[in-house]
Amino acid sequence: MSNNKNKYSSLFTNVIPNSISGIKIYNQKEKYIKNQNYDDVTNLENRIWSELYQNLEFILDQYASKEYLLGLRSLPIPNNMFPNFKLISPLIKNATGWTLVPVAGFLDEDLFFEINKLKKFPVTDIIRKSPRFDEKYFGVDIKNKRGYTPEPDIFHDIQGHIPFLMNNKYAEFMYQIGILGYDIIKDERGLGADLVHHNLQRLQNFAWWTYEYGLLKNKGKTDIYRRVKNDIEFEIYGAGIISSFDEVKNVIDCSKKESRRSRFLSYDIEEMALTCFDYSEIQDRYYVIDSMDFLYDSFKKNKELFYFEG
Ligand SMILES: [Fe+2]
Repeated sequence: MSNNKNKYSSLFTNVIPNSISGIKIYNQKEKYIKNQNYDDVTNLENRIWSELYQNLEFILDQYASKEYLLGLRSLPIPNNMFPNFKLISPLIKNATGWTLVPVAGFLDEDLFFEINKLKKFPVTDIIRKSPRFDEKYFGVDIKNKRGYTPEPDIFHDIQGHIPFLMNNKYAEFMYQIGILGYDIIKDERGLGADLVHHNLQRLQNFAWWTYEYGLLKNKGKTDIYRRVKNDIEFEIYGAGIISSFDEVKNVIDCSKKESRRSRFLSYDIEEMALTCFDYSEIQDRYYVIDSMDFLYDSFKKNKELFYFEG
């Protein structure tokens, strides 16, 4: 996301400057498609994947949302080696019409929403802490930790996001976000560049606080899908939490009142759209939805929030 400021920027709260500096961002004019060469995956990369995955496997079984767990169980996402995009994509296509698009890295918002609008989800083949990652960012100071990297990697994209795309209602929600994003960019209402930028930022904030870092109330009805009963107030559905052990642990610790690092806030779509976020740290807040259906419905009813006219 760009940090361009304009006269509408003051409407946002929690503005964090330069949160993704150093990250390479691809646009439509660049060669952004990058096929996965599965035969080139190294033992070291498979080992990094295994460690990340196995570290989270049981904790997610206890705390991730039902949609996530069911999706994960129906896809060939192994716990001990890189997933093969070609094996996963046809299964998602059969279930919900989405496919995976292998990409070279972070996409700018125009490209991201345009791809989403075609029911294509961009996925990267690079993994944190690997030589390929170090090579890409040689000489650039970006975070590359086991628990977190702002550069999208295969672990976040596949382990965090893709299982949800097996769920029809969720897939439709993502599709509607893509359509809305694309429509904001097309600007048929003639709002102008500043408002287009502002409205896109609203949509990105909403996406961040929902499908990237959102929580769901635990109503005690999903324990049949788990090996161990969920003993906190929440279920996790944000892919950014799911793909980070530190973030999952933070949610659990704060929920059990063993840490006060982050707050749990009630869902408020307007507040969320106007609240910026930090890519580079554990989140200081999480917005909690009552149910996935509530989220889908709220998004459907509040689209005008993303066509702010100044
Ligand atoms: Fe993501």
